[in-house]
Amino acid sequence: MRLVPLQHLYGGEIIAKDIFDENGNLLLAKNTKFKNFYRFKLEERGISRVYITDYFSEGIEVKDVIPDKIRVQSLKSIKDMVSLFKSTQKIKIEKIQNAAMEIVDSILENKELLYNVADLKTKDNYTYLHCINVSILCVMVGIKMGANREYLEKLAIGGILHDFGKLLIPDEILNKPDKLSNEEYEIIKRHTIIGYEILKESSMLTPISKVMILLHHERIDGSGYPLGVSKDNIHESARICAICDVFDAMTSTRVYKKAFSVVDTLSEMEEMTKNKLDADIFKVFRSIISYYPVGSTVLLNDNTIAIVEQNRPDYIDAPIVRVIFDLNTQQEVFKQVDLHIEKNLEIEKEIVLEEYIDNSCIIKAKEG
Ligand SMILES: [Fe+2]
Repeated sequence: MRLVPLQHLYGGEIIAKDIFDENGNLLLAKNTKFKNFYRFKLEERGISRVYITDYFSEGIEVKDVIPDKIRVQSLKSIKDMVSLFKSTQKIKIEKIQNAAMEIVDSILENKELLYNVADLKTKDNYTYLHCINVSILCVMVGIKMGANREYLEKLAIGGILHDFGKLLIPDEILNKPDKLSNEEYEIIKRHTIIGYEILKESSMLTPISKVMILLHHERIDGSGYPLGVSKDNIHESARICAICDVFDAMTSTRVYKKAFSVVDTLSEMEEMTKNKLDADIFKVFRSIISYYPVGSTVLLNDNTIAIVEQNRPDYIDAPIVRVIFDLNTQQEVFKQVDLHIEKNLEIEKEIVLEEYIDNSCIIKAKEG
């Protein structure tokens, strides 16, 4: 399968992966033939690219650290918790604990997999999905740092709940497309304190999870909020959470901004390790992220086009790719290349295949 932006689907393509809406309902099932009127339905939800199966990408499989089912269940747990709190002011943590355990189990089973940013995001759901993504990332970092099971569960719960306070902020402010006023920005900043104040009395939550809620916007030079404390006073779990939070926010499309690429995000974050983010944890963090997700199309430095076939934790910037087209000769190729072995070859950038190859060529190729 390969990732294709919606605007390059012309109808008839085979959807390679189930697509869910913001409530976890199936929008388009795997193996559905794409029809043009689906485009609006997907666009409306902020989905900008989908996986399709085609001639070029046959046999390339995307494995997720977390199966969609668990992701959707976790999403539902946090949604239920928020709506229960809004209507009754009651806090129920049990479902969040179950979701956290499932997240930890699943990641422990898939330890060899890297985190794929291509996991599709919908814009309405941003804050909920963000909480789940941050939880997954925190657990992956925790595993790499050698954390035990108990600590991993605390990281998972803290990740799911880190923005609990934000989920209570009115949508008009949270998803405002224009620049926020100072007053609105101050309201958003209060989400750390609000979340902490509501959840601090809960005996079901451990101090580690609570500290992640309160301190995930603190920065190591003391320039963060709400307390403005510096590195020594920010618990490790909150420093982990800060990195995962920044990464997911930067790689997401929001009503007011486009998503940054993984490569740009990581280099920007590298800069931030000088004074804002923990440099040692960031080193661990970058080893769990795939730079180019499986199924993405890339341009190699010899002017050939390839699809990423397999990412490996040990050679993070040198995946196994399938070369499919040579731009020099304008000929189709079909060759598997391990970029770790072929030292002269490297990825130049992620591209959209349809912008490089004449459409008639793709259609010809599809027909085999
Ligand atoms: Fe936050």
